[in-house]
Amino acid sequence: MDAIEVIVAKRDGHELTTDRIDWVIDAYTRGEVADEQMSALAMAILLNGMNRGEIAAWTQAMIRSGERMDWSGLDRPTADKHSTGGVGDKITLPLAPLVAACGAYVPQLSGRGLGHTGGTLDKLESIPGWRASLSNDEMLDVLRSAGAVVCAAGSGLAPADKKLYALRDVTGTVESIPLIASSIMSKKIAEGTGSLVLDVKVGSGAFMKTVEQARELAETMVALGTDAGVRTVALLTAMDRPLGLAVGNALEVEESVEVLAGGGPSDVVELTVRLAREMLEAAGIAGKDPEQALKDGSAMDHWRRMIAAQGGDPDAPLPRAAETMTVAAPASGVLTGLDAYAVGLAAWRLGAGRARKEDPVSAGAGVTLHAKPGDVVREGQPLMTLHADESARFERALEALEGGYAVGPAAGEHLPLVIDRIT
Ligand code: URA
Repeated sequence: MDAIEVIVAKRDGHELTTDRIDWVIDAYTRGEVADEQMSALAMAILLNGMNRGEIAAWTQAMIRSGERMDWSGLDRPTADKHSTGGVGDKITLPLAPLVAACGAYVPQLSGRGLGHTGGTLDKLESIPGWRASLSNDEMLDVLRSAGAVVCAAGSGLAPADKKLYALRDVTGTVESIPLIASSIMSKKIAEGTGSLVLDVKVGSGAFMKTVEQARELAETMVALGTDAGVRTVALLTAMDRPLGLAVGNALEVEESVEVLAGGGPSDVVELTVRLAREMLEAAGIAGKDPEQALKDGSAMDHWRRMIAAQGGDPDAPLPRAAETMTVAAPASGVLTGLDAYAVGLAAWRLGAGRARKEDPVSAGAGVTLHAKPGDVVREGQPLMTLHADESARFERALEALEGGYAVGPAAGEHLPLVIDRIT
């Protein structure tokens, strides 16, 4: 077999056989198929698609390119959540310890932010001392002592995806549902969780801009998980406006701690509790009330143990940006819209995100919102506060926000927080 034969088959609209898929993923991982050949194949897949059988074979081949973790020695079920990414999406931070407090083990491998969306590891790294890289043995120790662990995936997990995702990033081939679904699910299945809840975001701040696209991605991922023996369910949730009131690394940690202390913005609390219920159900744990675990301090207790077990100081003050600037309401009325992409782009330009994988992020930078769509505002009232380490960043952040919010006489349309559930 050779790479050209596989590329030409997909270019001409044919189904790829499992043999061809196994061969090309294995040869690419070993460096025998060149990056330019894999980019041509990724583009052919983006243009011509893959059917369910091809996507399943592609996912299995990527899993086999590396190690598969195994938590079967643990005495309680494992549950994980994956979000396709958004603006202000800090849900993993309160959710992992909350679900642990309700009786499941939560082994979560997370990523860093790229572009306008934030990454869970960047957020947690704003906690002084906290360490994202753990060996498999350390991961197990944290899981046993805190019930939840959130860390970076080691280089042994789905290495074919690691190479291919970096290549797709620079060849205009990220936006392919078969490639996104197989990329996410190969890592989640290799991570070894027994059950998985997918939070598929929809709207301007998400990968999937429409409900139809998000539904197709969710259905594809649920089928992949189920076929691999992982109990998988997906929620489609709103990302047309930011989630919560904080966007930026340390700002989002602060908001997550508020949720764990029984407070926090209502949308963050509602989604955290809903996802916790879904995770517990998928893990087969009955009779536990996540709302109670937020109220009685047990979720907070698991958070503190989880942070401390990874070297972090849960009591240390979080970093703050040196400079702030207030954006005021341009008129009196109702905040009709607050575009998630505009706020994400502003936070990125303030220093909260990175343009290239190797770039550093600012822990304190970001945006604090003082109003959400539907709120009544008065002219001149603060709508948001921008945070940056250097005031020179404010101008480009303000440009990003232009047209991204509006005040009108009546509330505008927005997506329901939970749009649909896919099983
Ligand atoms: N996240 C992933 O892990 N892979 C993709 O392809 C897209 C988002």
